[in-house]
Amino acid sequence: KNIFIKEDKITKITSQELKADEVIDAKGKIVIPGLIDPHVHFREPGATHKEDFLTGSMAAAAGGITTFLDMPNTSPPTTNMRALDEKRRLAKKSIVNYGFHFGASNDNIAEIEKAENIASVKVYMDYTTGNMKLEEYDALKKIFSCNKTVSVHAENDNVLKAIELIQNSNNALYIAHTSSNRDLHNCIKEKIKNDVFVEVAPHHLFLTKKDIDELGSYAEMKPSLKSKKDQDALWQGIHNGDVDTIATDHAPHTKEEKRESNYPFGVPGCETMLPLLLNALNKKRIELKKIVELCCENPAKIFKIKSKGFIKENFDADLTIIDLDMEKEVRNDELFTKCKWSPFDGWNLKGWPTHTIVNGNIVFQNGKINNIVAKEVDYHE
Ligand code: NCD
Ligand code: ZN
Ligand code: ZN
Repeated sequence: KNIFIKEDKITKITSQELKADEVIDAKGKIVIPGLIDPHVHFREPGATHKEDFLTGSMAAAAGGITTFLDMPNTSPPTTNMRALDEKRRLAKKSIVNYGFHFGASNDNIAEIEKAENIASVKVYMDYTTGNMKLEEYDALKKIFSCNKTVSVHAENDNVLKAIELIQNSNNALYIAHTSSNRDLHNCIKEKIKNDVFVEVAPHHLFLTKKDIDELGSYAEMKPSLKSKKDQDALWQGIHNGDVDTIATDHAPHTKEEKRESNYPFGVPGCETMLPLLLNALNKKRIELKKIVELCCENPAKIFKIKSKGFIKENFDADLTIIDLDMEKEVRNDELFTKCKWSPFDGWNLKGWPTHTIVNGNIVFQNGKINNIVAKEVDYHE
């Protein structure tokens, strides 16, 4: 089949040979929808020594990600319209498409109601980078019944609390980076009754707490790495259809910061998620269909992103070409993320993206980045 692109849209998918100005020969490779990463921290504004929208989006492009949704724990946090407008201005330097989660605070319900064209309201129920933890029950109750999807950073009893809070509303609940067997099963129980969506992160799928022995603070993130048993439960959840998305939780911090005794939590992930999954595919741990469902289709569906996530006529020309036979080592010095390290440094992986196409432009091709102007996504009502 041939995929025809005109300007920023897929115009035709056909076995016919139509005339084109430029042809990419994908013979021996596979074309999938560009990945939508619904959970990244690109650190702008406030911590651009760790990452910014340009370097973060370059890392995304190199990882086959054509759209990301940025989290609100920046400084200042994205908890009011002014901060959101400022972030929109800063994100214009991104070379892949983007959207934003809006942050919840103790007293910003009016701003939440005002915020338009956002993916969700993000509520931090447990401690993590950014000091946005919310505990006050009345504030939580108000936020959970706002007119938006609610995403949560929650672990253990706070997962149960989030589930209880969402039951009294018509909202969907999105549980970020689910890491344990217990949290996963508490979500699964609720899925039948309510719209509860489960996200898992690649570090929880490919590392366990044993890796902390060797990696130290470079393997410390929130939620922390768990046991092999927890990891197996997440994979089981992927196979059973209980896990809805895989997202990077790309959370860069500098090496210097990670070496300090009170190091910050988080690991980068944009450049390694797809190769790790394709390597797992080569080892028969996951099917390509599943990867596309969890990394492309479901993020578009859950956050109601328009014209993305699928290869369809009239959809945006956001595509990733993968080579399942390409073998390469992850190397810190080759990464585009500003922090220049990965917990997967030295891992030899089979299966890599070779081309990333955003709005009809090749932004990443065989290791090289091309600058383009990308766009903010739109959402269905
Ligand atoms: C994230 C960060 O650094 O912004 N850290 C992390 O350990 N995951 C915040 C978060 O996602 O909780
Ligand atoms: Zn989190
Ligand atoms: Zn995060």
